[in-house]
Amino acid sequence: MIICSCEGITEKEVRRAARCGAENVKDLGKLCGAGTGCNSCHCDLKKILREETCEAKPSALQPFAVGEPAVSII
Ligand code: FES
Repeated sequence: MIICSCEGITEKEVRRAARCGAENVKDLGKLCGAGTGCNSCHCDLKKILREETCEAKPSALQPFAVGEPAVSII
């Protein structure tokens, strides 16, 4: 599925760029060209970046109680 119609960039290409280190829309533009035209795809690009970042760092989603360490030490 095309995410950035200006540059013809697919969702798969954007996800690959995010997994290769893109941290923001500007990085995505450098890595795959997405988001470098009219900017109307930026919301979708940011959503994909959030999804890929959360999948890469699952500990960021784990809830913890106030006063308890976020990571248990065994
Ligand atoms: S649709 Fe992505 S820059 Fe225009």
